[in-house]
Amino acid sequence: RKKMTIQQLQQLRESRTPITMVTAYDYPTARALDTHGVDIALVGDSLAQVCLGLPSTTLVTLDEMLHHCRAVARGSTHPLIIADMPFGSYHAGVDDAVRNAVRMVKEGHVEGVKLEGGAEIVDIVRRITQMGVPVMAHVGLLPQRHVALSGYRVQGRDAAGARDVYDSAKALQEAGAFSIVLEAIPHQLGSFITEELSIPTIGIGAGPGTSGQVLVWDDLMTRWHGRKAKFVRRFADVGQEEGRGIQNYISAVRDRSFPKPKEEGYEMGPGEWDLFL
Ligand code: KIV
Ligand code: NA
Repeated sequence: RKKMTIQQLQQLRESRTPITMVTAYDYPTARALDTHGVDIALVGDSLAQVCLGLPSTTLVTLDEMLHHCRAVARGSTHPLIIADMPFGSYHAGVDDAVRNAVRMVKEGHVEGVKLEGGAEIVDIVRRITQMGVPVMAHVGLLPQRHVALSGYRVQGRDAAGARDVYDSAKALQEAGAFSIVLEAIPHQLGSFITEELSIPTIGIGAGPGTSGQVLVWDDLMTRWHGRKAKFVRRFADVGQEEGRGIQNYISAVRDRSFPKPKEEGYEMGPGEWDLFL
């Protein structure tokens, strides 16, 4: 299967064929997305919580992101590989942001970067885009600002808030973003922004009217036992299956039914045991 391109994503938007994006943090997950034809693999900074056990995305470092990006890149032949620029890596000015975006490409082997924010990051998005690194924008709920926002809360529920999310989306498209994530906004606003923009929108808690959807792998597989956001649907229960596996393993080791000497082990060569003794 050939590599997904920005042009193809644009064609999917135009033909109203929903785009699929899923997070991946390691090689086997990337292989699964690749095998089953997911359009975009996102190395999200949700890595912090679901993979590294950190309490917030703000704590994951650029070097940690790069390590996981490379693993995902090795397993992603077909999906476009996008990764979050972590908190702090695009906050200290345009030059620093460009330097770090270049690191994501050169050391992380990703094909585009995702940045959270609105008007305040427009100059950064423009410059990174101009230098040839595709940018996916991210508006609505911005998890990197959960403290400033007083929690992970729905955004754009009142007219002024909705206007703010819409204006940000327009400005980021204008700055050159090739696509935009809409997180935790009312479904009417998700559809409206999608109709008004000319780039694909990828929703998470933004209703069915966006150009595509994204979920965190561990959320959709039920491998993660943090609080379930309203917008998460459990598409499989891998956690339950893992629990069954580990319990069965422990009891088989303890009652010595695992391993079986012959079927799960090796025999000496003919006569060799007597020679050994
Ligand atoms: O970090 C992440 O997983 C994300 C997606 C949920 C959009 O940013
Ligand atoms: Na993220």
